[in-house]
Amino acid sequence: MSRLHLPLNTHWEFIPEDHPEFATRQYTGPSTEVSVPHTVKEVPHHNFTEAEYSLISWYRRDLSIPEAFSGKRLILHFDGVMLAAEVFLDGVKLAEHRGGFTPFQVDLTDHVVPGKTHLLAVRVDSRERTDIPPFGNLVDYMTFGGIYREVHLKVLDPLHIENVFFKGQDVLSGLPSAEIEVTALNTGIIPEEVALTVELQDHTGQTVSVVQEVRTFEAGPSVHTLRLLDLTGIELWDIENPVLYTLKVHLGTRDRLDTRVGFRESEFRTDGFYYLNGRKVTLRGMNRHQTYPYIGAAAPERLQKKDADLIKFDLGCNMVRTSHYPQSPHFLDRCDEIGLLVFTEMQGWQHIGDQDWQDLSVDLLHDLVVRDRNHPSIVLWGARVNESPDHTDFYTRTNRLVHDLDPTRQTGGVRCFFGSELLEDVYTMNDFAATLTPYHDRAPRYLVTEYSGHMFPTKSFDQEERVVAHALKHAGILNQIGALGIAGGIAWCAFDYNTHATFGSGDRICYHGVMDIFRQPKFAAHLYASQQSPEHKKVLFAATYWTRGDVNEGLISPVWIFSNLDRVEVYVSGKLEGEAVRATDEYPHLEYPPFKMQNISGGWGENFGALELRGYLGSEVVATHHLAADGIPQKLVFEADDPVIHADGADLTRLSLRITDEYGNTLPFAWGPVLLDIDGPGVLVGEHPLVLPGGQGAVYLRSTRIPGTVTVTARAQGLPAQTVQVRTQERAAEGRKLKAEGLLSL
Ligand code: GAL
Repeated sequence: MSRLHLPLNTHWEFIPEDHPEFATRQYTGPSTEVSVPHTVKEVPHHNFTEAEYSLISWYRRDLSIPEAFSGKRLILHFDGVMLAAEVFLDGVKLAEHRGGFTPFQVDLTDHVVPGKTHLLAVRVDSRERTDIPPFGNLVDYMTFGGIYREVHLKVLDPLHIENVFFKGQDVLSGLPSAEIEVTALNTGIIPEEVALTVELQDHTGQTVSVVQEVRTFEAGPSVHTLRLLDLTGIELWDIENPVLYTLKVHLGTRDRLDTRVGFRESEFRTDGFYYLNGRKVTLRGMNRHQTYPYIGAAAPERLQKKDADLIKFDLGCNMVRTSHYPQSPHFLDRCDEIGLLVFTEMQGWQHIGDQDWQDLSVDLLHDLVVRDRNHPSIVLWGARVNESPDHTDFYTRTNRLVHDLDPTRQTGGVRCFFGSELLEDVYTMNDFAATLTPYHDRAPRYLVTEYSGHMFPTKSFDQEERVVAHALKHAGILNQIGALGIAGGIAWCAFDYNTHATFGSGDRICYHGVMDIFRQPKFAAHLYASQQSPEHKKVLFAATYWTRGDVNEGLISPVWIFSNLDRVEVYVSGKLEGEAVRATDEYPHLEYPPFKMQNISGGWGENFGALELRGYLGSEVVATHHLAADGIPQKLVFEADDPVIHADGADLTRLSLRITDEYGNTLPFAWGPVLLDIDGPGVLVGEHPLVLPGGQGAVYLRSTRIPGTVTVTARAQGLPAQTVQVRTQERAAEGRKLKAEGLLSL
């Protein structure tokens, strides 16, 4: 039997309080059955404080160890527990881990008896402990709490693979190769001779290259390097065509570990630009927090992946920064799959703690790099706490560690002041003053890692002029980045996020996103979308509420239009007003400058009618955008993001709600409330009734462990009720197979 990774995500009992007896069967009091990812406290989307989730809680579940596991190494693996965890087996504490963003493992082998059912318990501390990064000072984001990522049990041979590190080499030379570093662990006491095989397969499962060598595995850990030579014909991983391969490492028949890999060459060069596979790419990115409404950070795979899709496909970006900590492996997997470049960084925010805090940060950075260094999408490591002061010792140490663990990638380290000590390869700068100084004269490898954000917080329900100005500010900075000739810029930020009282708009939201916290677009999102090629997506969007009096002085023009099409005609009440003009003078360095329509007829006090845009590619109308003139809600648009989800008690899909005009444009002042009814094996997560901020919002539908069909009905006053149906179904084949083998009674 090769290795098994057995999911332990269901059947947890949870109590939101500190009860040490919960680690034993003596506790027979109440508890709630939950699946993970799980948050210790569901919260409203705003207007709450960190006190809600800053608590100690307990999780526990049975852990039955089948006889078949006799002689195996049994390693319990947590993908992430916020913020600190103590792990107990049958009441005995086995391990403690500090830090909520990276995985940790507990070796259970010597503590379990095959054939017996044990009690596994985890004490979770979600308080903002100053001994654990990011805490110690103010932090502009919330961390929430719980076993908020997945858990599994690894069942391993005493001789097994600990870790694989894939390095594609000479990928542009016409004669690519790869070096594979395998770390093995022989937990026995005698050396073993075993064939080590490295096999590269393409996405069809076809073996492209294979190498096998008999190696001696001394007792303890050992590192073995193998090379795959002459990989002519290998396809590169790129933004446009992210080709992935599977690397299968076999230790005889004792173990096999599969890793997804890609071949690409990534470099920030001293000419100031970024090159992927030798081709200059202007980086256009978004910062992303892992915060979701109601569930905090406890988003399952589906939602993690959806965020990557939004950034790549809806916002047309090619990069994301996982501000300011290691994010979900699912999110990174999706970045690999869709060709979204990643700048990932160590956890923290402006503050550097004492020696113990720094030592812990270095350990956690180690875990981040080892976890993530096979992702082709990751092109830059952040080896500095975001916006912290210079600290020669600490950052010499972090940079050395990262380079030792991964000599193939460059480091950055995000600062917010010019002239800071450059210990990294790339000068990564939060240029909030939007000076966009050509500082790269002094630090030639230079990337703007934040702009906009708190300089212009904007709610999706702000007055029209502000929402438009927000989008145009982003356009202006993109234009300046284009003018300067630097590697690119990463905007602050993709999505509005929950924060502490010292930041944001008082309701515990930083309204800095180009999308709101529900992942619904603000005008700025359409501006970004319009900067991609129409081959990817044809974008035509009138950035106006098209009302007669929301804009100062009752003006209706100019109307800004975000589009990547060739020409845009503007009609009012079905009558051609003229052709909008590309604002190339104002935004000469944008690939698709916004269009501007001036002098639309009709003055203050006069009637006006529906607006219609017709967008042309060549002589053909390929897109239209209509806006009604009368502002009164016509439709409740209610949509589930997914028709089918897993019946595992943790999976979620977003149910998005918008009140719109007859053409489907969200009406920013149509605030609901919306009432929701649910029927079937599902749970609604969110506020009920939901008042839609800015005419748009969302709740989530969580599955239970019972498969079936869930029907949700939404009602808003004066509008026809709407219904969505979502099926929940058992996780496919793998689960059934393990059950049949008696291994999933775990
Ligand atoms: C930056 C910081 C971000 C966020 C942003 C708001 O200084 O790095 O985390 O707080 O400001 O604009």
